[in-house]
Amino acid sequence: MREFIAGLPKCELHLHIEGTLEPELKFELAGRNGLKLPYSSVAEIRAAYTFDSLSSFLKIYYEGMRVLRTEPDFYDLAMAYLRRAAAQNVRYAEIFFDPQAHTSRGVPFDVVIRGLRRALMDAQAQLGVRAQLIMCFLRDFQAEYAMATLLESLPYREWIAGVGLDSDERGNPPVKFATVYARARQEGYLLTMHCDVDQDDAIEHIRQAVEDIGVDRIDHGVNILEDQRLVDLVLARGMGLTCCPISNGYVTDSMKAEGIRKLLDLGVRVTINSDDPAYFDGYVLENLEALQHALQLTEAELAQLERNAFEITWLPRHLKDAYL
Ligand code: ADE
Ligand code: ZN
Repeated sequence: MREFIAGLPKCELHLHIEGTLEPELKFELAGRNGLKLPYSSVAEIRAAYTFDSLSSFLKIYYEGMRVLRTEPDFYDLAMAYLRRAAAQNVRYAEIFFDPQAHTSRGVPFDVVIRGLRRALMDAQAQLGVRAQLIMCFLRDFQAEYAMATLLESLPYREWIAGVGLDSDERGNPPVKFATVYARARQEGYLLTMHCDVDQDDAIEHIRQAVEDIGVDRIDHGVNILEDQRLVDLVLARGMGLTCCPISNGYVTDSMKAEGIRKLLDLGVRVTINSDDPAYFDGYVLENLEALQHALQLTEAELAQLERNAFEITWLPRHLKDAYL
């Protein structure tokens, strides 16, 4: 089974590039930028990863990315991820980035996107991995800042497949960003957003995302099982869910494997992804292995999970078909 999972052509659709920042690269970037980290070794950094909720994780995640300053920093970050992805037989990835986590501390938008874009182009040429970018708004900032970020992205419209919404969900429902999402749709962006597992008002957030905003897919979203009407709606629309089992185990009490199995059995296009692999200690391969171990998934079911992912990519039809 290990060999089967390793050899499976993979598609990653829920991956925060800032969440791929490994401790070794943190040290290298800190050195390059003349910054002093409050840790003296890689082991010390890892020992400080003691989160048990979304908010405790986010604190460490934002602190960690302060070493990212220049265009080559963002290039190196993305290239390191894409090398690992290629080694795990990831053929295609849609990669989230959080521009406001950088512009809010003085790093210009164009520095971020140019570095990431250059890595994506080089990875395609050198590693054979195709990837696209999804720009996420930080939901714990004001909607006006998200709108300003959307407008700032427009000169780079062709480099960005769609928009997402992440960060701290508590008190920040999807409808807070209804105007921003309507404008993003007008500009031709595809739409997704996080409905994180077991958050307050989880099912109401999923309802708003699907019915009020009209997203094209949902990131996480396992709580949809609480409302059969919404499950039926997602099935009717053929929408996908990007689930992240190991991440679930860190920010809640479990991987939510049984829920993922139920979604798969219902025919929902559920997919398996790694979220923030440098922090949760598992890339997509390890997520598939962990889920298989928990559920005793068959080869056919594992193949279905990857087929689901390739089916819901935001690639133009002719490119999508080449993976199916
Ligand atoms: N930002 C990075 N990872 C995230 C996650 N799992 N949920 C919400 N926001 C995030
Ligand atoms: Zn996420």
